[in-house]
Amino acid sequence: MTASGTATDVTGRAESATGEDGWWRDAVIYQIYPRSFADSDGDGMGDLNGIREHLDHIESLGVDAVWLSPFYPSPQADAGYDVADYRDVNPTFGTLADFDALLAQAHDLGLRVVIDLVPNHTSSEHAWFKAAVTSLPGSPERARYIFRDGKGAEGELPPNNWGSVFGGTAWTRVEDGTERPQWYLHLFDTRQPDLNWENPEVIAEFKDVLRFWLSRGVDGFRIDVAHGLIKEKGLPDNLQDTSQDATPTGPMWNQPGVHEIYRGWHRVLREFGNDPMLVAEAWVSDPSALAFYVRSDEMQQAFNFNFLLAGWDASEMRRQIDQTRAANAVVGATTTWVLSNHDVVRHATRLAMTDRNAWRHGIGPEDPQPDAALGLDRARAATMFILALPGGAYIYQGEELGLPEHTTLPSDVRQDPTFRRTGGKVIGRDGCRVPLPWDSTRPGLGFGPDENTWLPQPDSFAGLAADRQNGVPGSTLELYRAAIAIRRERALGDGDIAWNPSPDGVLDFTNGTTRIVLNASADPFPLEAVETVLASSDDAVRDGELLPNHAVWLDVD
Ligand code: NOJ
Repeated sequence: MTASGTATDVTGRAESATGEDGWWRDAVIYQIYPRSFADSDGDGMGDLNGIREHLDHIESLGVDAVWLSPFYPSPQADAGYDVADYRDVNPTFGTLADFDALLAQAHDLGLRVVIDLVPNHTSSEHAWFKAAVTSLPGSPERARYIFRDGKGAEGELPPNNWGSVFGGTAWTRVEDGTERPQWYLHLFDTRQPDLNWENPEVIAEFKDVLRFWLSRGVDGFRIDVAHGLIKEKGLPDNLQDTSQDATPTGPMWNQPGVHEIYRGWHRVLREFGNDPMLVAEAWVSDPSALAFYVRSDEMQQAFNFNFLLAGWDASEMRRQIDQTRAANAVVGATTTWVLSNHDVVRHATRLAMTDRNAWRHGIGPEDPQPDAALGLDRARAATMFILALPGGAYIYQGEELGLPEHTTLPSDVRQDPTFRRTGGKVIGRDGCRVPLPWDSTRPGLGFGPDENTWLPQPDSFAGLAADRQNGVPGSTLELYRAAIAIRRERALGDGDIAWNPSPDGVLDFTNGTTRIVLNASADPFPLEAVETVLASSDDAVRDGELLPNHAVWLDVD
């Protein structure tokens, strides 16, 4: 990429992308969670060189890009989403030179590289926060964060009633030796102080961070907590009990002011040509409000979490598809499908659960254990379904192996701060972050050079390791490869859908000359004229009927 406005297209295409033909509009993007992808040095924690050793696996899937979760220097209070330095690499993960090498290798393979930007909060170890704590109230150092006096005679009560997403209060009182120490806001962990996005210094700093990585050649950024940067003026109490809502609302979320920030970033990206993109992690349930994030002068993608939350419910899936596509059409953006990531119960487990809320509580050894075979069938079907939809799609590392959640992790290995902050009430997200199984014959299933893995792997991982599926017809890995190849051949990501009539529980649409049927009902679904099967899970179609919990792609040319 050059700063002149003429982008170097890593796939070798001559033309630069624009809003109309941007590469992201129909891209399949593979999420790498660096801690758990592959370990090159045996410390049990994944690293950048581990990623380099397995990039060919990602290339073999036929995806367009990778998204790397944070690899920056960080005390890892929230697995790296607590950044202490935005312009470097955590020594556990490697060096800046390793990053440059990874970027070059990925580009050589035709893979674009999107990295994670965490702008809502820094780590409490960030130089800015350390300076803020040792500076006086009202100082420029404190003005980079959200410090307030407490309530009560001695200022001993938090400034308002806001709660942390990870449990407990969102305020912590500093120990600064003054008579009435102030409190600082942290919507997440105590060690993740929220930045003050009303402060021009913060705005300037992040534009500079964007330029730092764009100059190195990255192709985009996934924006963490994109709906949280601006808080309602005066920080009023939150009057809504949203503790049970999947996408909470309140004075800290989805404030109109966030959009000005993204317009500014859009302009920074365009200094580097038309290719770089932004994808919003914004938990905003109203599809029209979410579409604001992908207006032509803001970001390019926003994860469709409403669809993820629809679970295994055909009518809810369809409702979310129609609503989001309609809302995004208004602003000229495509929709971005995702079923798993490092924050939710893996879909090979989640889709077998009747408790729709379990995605955010996690599953522990004391909970009812999901049916693994049912979960895998549904996961494969759901993935085939989203890969046939127009728009972009994300794959979370390990889902191409059909990995389930680790549902029996012992408490003492858990690292997700939410587990501790809720006294174990919320199990947390460790179960979807377990180190990947590459080779069933090696200690630690080939995650690293020896048996060290920062979280233990469940027994089921051995049978699902990459070496057990590579080249094996009918394996989940081969299904992903086939589906992504057919999707590309038939330009499904760039297509349109027409719904076909179907009974309750069945979703049936045509995209170009491809018909996609998903059976989320309890009964086999007769396909009438059985056209050529392009892709399906094993034995999905029997005697002309699509079995429950399966999906099929048919050629209707
Ligand atoms: C969303 C990230 O995906 C999650 O892992 C993290 O804990 C929060 N944002 C806070 O950064």
